[in-house]
Amino acid sequence: MKAIVQHEYGGPEVFTLEDVAKPQPKDDEVLVRIHTAAIHPGDWLTMTGRPYVFRIGTGLRKPRRNTPGFDLAGTVEAVGKDVTDLHPGDEVFGEGKGTCAEFATAKAEALAPKPPSLSLDQAGVLAVSGVTAIKGLRDAGKLQPGMKVLINGASGGIGTYAVQIAKAMGAEVTGVCSTKNVELVRSLGADHVIDYTREDWTKGATRYDLILDNVGNHSLADSRRAATPNGSYLSNSGITGGRWFGPLTRMLKAAVGSIFIRNQGAPFYAPVKRADLAELTRYVEDGHVRPVVDRTYPLVDTAEAMAHVATGHASGKTAIAI
Ligand SMILES: NC(=O)c1ccc[n+]([C@@H]2O[C@H](COP(=O)([O-])OP(=O)(O)OC[C@H]3O[C@@H](n4cnc5c(N)ncnc54)[C@H](OP(=O)(O)O)[C@@H]3O)[C@@H](O)[C@H]2O)c1
Repeated sequence: MKAIVQHEYGGPEVFTLEDVAKPQPKDDEVLVRIHTAAIHPGDWLTMTGRPYVFRIGTGLRKPRRNTPGFDLAGTVEAVGKDVTDLHPGDEVFGEGKGTCAEFATAKAEALAPKPPSLSLDQAGVLAVSGVTAIKGLRDAGKLQPGMKVLINGASGGIGTYAVQIAKAMGAEVTGVCSTKNVELVRSLGADHVIDYTREDWTKGATRYDLILDNVGNHSLADSRRAATPNGSYLSNSGITGGRWFGPLTRMLKAAVGSIFIRNQGAPFYAPVKRADLAELTRYVEDGHVRPVVDRTYPLVDTAEAMAHVATGHASGKTAIAI
């Protein structure tokens, strides 16, 4: 089968299209014929091997898991012997391993039937960012109807879902983005949009019950100041931090801060599970959530797609058509 393969750490040029063996599903896994994959900022970390601390999981000198891509939509090709609820021919979406390929394996628990109203092209960009938005707002943020919620990075992969889901959960939503994305964020249902090129949300008079920060471009202290005393500032990212720990430095500070500081939320991790995919599907089928596909690249141009995401200014999701 054809797959994007990476033999060394580096820039997008390390991605090459090669013929490799089709993966075999383990007992609790499913082999999926991939229709659509997606690129997200996490793929940049695996590709570059930076921050270095991530190499503990991916290979110290060379990458071990050498095909990028987590998001997928496609058709079940085969199932492991313990998988009884998915069958060859089923259309699914979710999270797999190395999905920038014609076939990839995934834990059955990280897959769910494709939402009926979405095409495979749309469903392929739904799982990772959609589940992260749900986990951030529902679990880490404990969002309740009527809360004032601010989403920083509202036009990005996670932000476009977070705006829609926060609205569906009954929040008053403020989205932060640049001028070119103001209309997009408004069209997703945001009640207020702050253009960060004109206004700094950390310096405004409004205080928020929940802040989901997908950018991390202000200090934790400045960011927390925009949350109400009983509110919560959740840092989901960090744009600096050095080559050893990168965004983890900010996550670590937030984790320690959350023990002592009332409105500093603890960082959260969002593994994709079927129950969350089912919730995402309900939002889609109720008409509350639509994926925003920024650009779609053919598999051979995955390096270009990665370079686009790495600008930090992709709007919505960047898809790979297999
Ligand atoms: N917690 C978890 O389990 C988890 C899971 C997945 C991802 N993440 C992390 O979450 C972060 C966000 O991911 P993502 O997929 O949403 O990223 P993304 O799609 O690359 O975000 C791009 C967006 O960020 C916006 N942006 C850039 N600079 C900004 C600024 N100064 N102020 C406000 N918005 C700005 C851009 O808007 P403009 O073009 O308008 O500037 C663009 O639309 C990443 O760091 C990722 O690693 C965490």
